[in-house]
Amino acid sequence: MKTTLIATALSSLAVLASAQAYFEVAITFTGADGAYYNQHFPTDDNSHPITNSMVVYNISSAGGGFCTFGGVNGTDVVVFGPETVAVDPPQAMSWGDCQTD
Ligand SMILES: *[C@@H]1O[C@H](CO)[C@@H](O)[C@H](O)[C@H]1NC(C)=O
Ligand SMILES: *[C@@H]1O[C@H](CO)[C@@H](O)[C@H](O)[C@H]1NC(C)=O
Repeated sequence: MKTTLIATALSSLAVLASAQAYFEVAITFTGADGAYYNQHFPTDDNSHPITNSMVVYNISSAGGGFCTFGGVNGTDVVVFGPETVAVDPPQAMSWGDCQTD
């Protein structure tokens, strides 16, 4: 019983420690007519779903990460640091994956 509790406590600590090892990249997805939405992606090099179905024309990052975004029509967009990259052709996004460099 006691060892189970300790093991649980240790694995929770490990999760907390790894959560603090990366940060979040603030991404703005811009659509037609000035519409936009924001989503933050942890720099954990894992694919995170994007559930907003708005058609995206370009993607801006506040910087600090190296991110790849996948669109519903199969276009991959790479955003490296603080820049704006067009999505061509414009399409809804389905996932994002960021890392630190
Ligand atoms: C974003 O996309 C729109 C539509 O294509 C374009 O008019 C605008 O200039 C783009 N913004 C930037 C910062 O590239
Ligand atoms: C992109 O994918 C969406 C959703 O599957 C579809 O409705 C749309 O027609 C596709 N557009 C192009 C240009 O393939």
